[in-house]
Amino acid sequence: MAILDKFSTLAARYDALKQSGSDPFSVKFDDIISSVEGVVNGKRTVLFGTNNYLGLTFDPVAMERSIEAIRQHGTGTTGSRIANGSYKGHEQLERELADFYGRKHCMVFSTGYQANLAMISTLVGKDDHLIIDADSHASIYDASRLGHAPVVRFRHNNPDDLAKRLARLKDVPGEKLIVAEGIYSMLGDTAPLKEFVDVKREFGAYLMVDEAHSMGVLGQRGRGLAEREGVEEDVDFVVGTFSKSLASVGGFCVSSIEGFDILRLAARPYMFTASLPPSIIASTISALETLRHEPQRRTKLRANSRRFYNGLKDAGFTVGPEANPIVAVILNDVAVATAFWKRLIDEGMYLNLALPPATPNSSAFLRSSVSAAHNDEHIDFAIELMTRVGREFGLIPDAEPDYSNVTQFPRVSAERPAARASIAPARRREADVGAGMA
Ligand SMILES: Cc1ncc(COP(=O)(O)O)c(C=O)c1O
Repeated sequence: MAILDKFSTLAARYDALKQSGSDPFSVKFDDIISSVEGVVNGKRTVLFGTNNYLGLTFDPVAMERSIEAIRQHGTGTTGSRIANGSYKGHEQLERELADFYGRKHCMVFSTGYQANLAMISTLVGKDDHLIIDADSHASIYDASRLGHAPVVRFRHNNPDDLAKRLARLKDVPGEKLIVAEGIYSMLGDTAPLKEFVDVKREFGAYLMVDEAHSMGVLGQRGRGLAEREGVEEDVDFVVGTFSKSLASVGGFCVSSIEGFDILRLAARPYMFTASLPPSIIASTISALETLRHEPQRRTKLRANSRRFYNGLKDAGFTVGPEANPIVAVILNDVAVATAFWKRLIDEGMYLNLALPPATPNSSAFLRSSVSAAHNDEHIDFAIELMTRVGREFGLIPDAEPDYSNVTQFPRVSAERPAARASIAPARRREADVGAGMA
């Protein structure tokens, strides 16, 4: 066991968490009924703990294309594109992503995590400088450890601090790469990209934006924060993932920089891992088409986000700074947050418990993500439940908002479905945005 001794503190904390009666880090779904509903501990549960922003995980067209791709091209590629070759689908997806973003080049990776690992660790070397936001996602931090560039962190979303740190490097040779995110995955806040662009220009740095949580969510065409802020020209590299709005798995980077393709022979997380299987490529291409041609999903997502965010805020909760699909309720106390989380899952709402050290400012909070496939009933159920529990816990004032129109969720049955067949109709119907519950 000695080799695991270094984890004893972590193990003790985890045991303490489990002794409180819940284990938020190993939730098991008895079933997934739709993109926004599942069954947990035998109870029909509304899902607010996914990143299924456009509600496409059960999209019938994507599912059919995925199945057809398996029939035609098999279940996997069994190797990396460099050593074992590319399929037509890999190249088609790269062309379509480049076209969607209006860029010359695209590289597709096996996960979003690897997209960051590959791009960041390769673009800047030992004679360059990597400048990252202090609240960066783990994949950005891990990329900084895989690469050889010295790393500078600037204060979260703080253009003045970014400028101060770049000023210190002004006369130091080497390229400078700034990395920021579109929507931050914990609190749902957005980066001040216009100000970052001013700083980048002043110091002649490169800028990469990870649009993992903002692709399909922000911007008129759904390209993300850089599109919404009108600064795409100044973003040299856009990184993203297929695991959120595009409802599959994988990642990408697009850019118009000259000579981009040499990265295929330099980026180790691209070269030394198996490429995405045909089924994933096929469903991702389909989801990208839907993202492009169904802007109403984005409109619905925004309306849902505002409804949920404002509902919680009006109830008196401390929420994150912006009404985006990621909605954080800040509770600070780990024990309270854990007990709150457990009550919610026991009563049919699944969301994420975010605890230190993974959280900004070492706070404890409940992180929800809203989907275009949620309907008003799902959202009002969640607001009502959180409000009731929040009052019971003495976390919010006891005022009485009017929930007279809200129907109890779940309407169907709080019991485990007797047989899989009993939930099949719901599974088929749900693909429509805003579709009602069974
Ligand atoms: C900002 C950010 N970048 C990258 C990733 C990694 O993406 P994936 O889970 O698709 O590997 C995530 C995942 O949550 C993320 O939040």
